[in-house]
Amino acid sequence: MSQSQYKIHFSDVSRVFDSPARGSEQITAISKLELGIQQSEIVSIVGPTGCGKSTALNMVAGFDKPSTGSLLLDGHEIFAPGPDRAVVFQHAALFPWMNVYENVVFGVKSQGMPRAEYEEKANTFLRAVGLRKFEKHYPYQISGGMQQRVQIARALIGSPEVLLMDEPFGALDYQTRILMQQLLLELWQEFKPTILFITHDVSEGIFISDRVVVMSSRPGRVRLEVAVNEPKPRHLEFLTSENFVGLEHQVLETVQQEIMAARAAA
Ligand SMILES: Nc1ncnc2c1ncn2[C@@H]1O[C@H](COP(=O)(O)OP(=O)(O)OP(=O)(O)O)[C@@H](O)[C@H]1O
Ligand SMILES: [Mg+2]
Repeated sequence: MSQSQYKIHFSDVSRVFDSPARGSEQITAISKLELGIQQSEIVSIVGPTGCGKSTALNMVAGFDKPSTGSLLLDGHEIFAPGPDRAVVFQHAALFPWMNVYENVVFGVKSQGMPRAEYEEKANTFLRAVGLRKFEKHYPYQISGGMQQRVQIARALIGSPEVLLMDEPFGALDYQTRILMQQLLLELWQEFKPTILFITHDVSEGIFISDRVVVMSSRPGRVRLEVAVNEPKPRHLEFLTSENFVGLEHQVLETVQQEIMAARAAA
């Protein structure tokens, strides 16, 4: 039975890859990762490129497995992807031949959700992400930020308990990115999913999260964890508050040290 009080629990997790380019040599992407994420918590991971952030997220998604250690979801080992976890990537992987509405309902439709239910939910989520009027548009007819909102609506329509986001706003301009962060927090307020969010943008991580985790240079493990003690919903004033600036300084300093360590090792 469940031994973990966490929604997601990495315990002594390592992931070693075979490296085809280097003959029999192996790459340890993650080593001894310890991280527990509570139900409905928003946790961001930041860290140098190649430190194992996506590897960690992919294992929670069920796309990959730890080499050693245990990774639990609700106290159970993760075997495969499932509708309880939705993934949002940096680049919206929409079906180009389907319009916005069809893209949003595709997953739940193939899982057998009744038509009346998915129609109603599609309306709710398209309205929530501000795309109700664009439901007949095809991906090429809408902007990158709008495509990303389609991806979020598609992720939320199946009521996932866990939202896994791998640099979801990385390709967006600054203003759109801030709007998306606020939208994500509004959606969280309503549905309270557990969110694991990867970003290179330290201020984005602090703005949206309950906790920010800095991963070390490869092999990735937790180098620093900071709690963001700021109530949600959050307002733009938070971005210029003393609390925010202090956290940002602390996190940036550690990330910088790890980037230097990664460079020195390369
Ligand atoms: N399938 C794979 N086979 C071999 N090596 C892999 C594989 N997936 C990841 N790696 C290696 O594991 C390490 C971590 O990769 P990962 O993609 O998790 O990093 P990341 O922190 O997400 O980086 P970025 O910030 O650039 O997205 C890298 O050295 C990468 O080359
Ligand atoms: Mg990555």
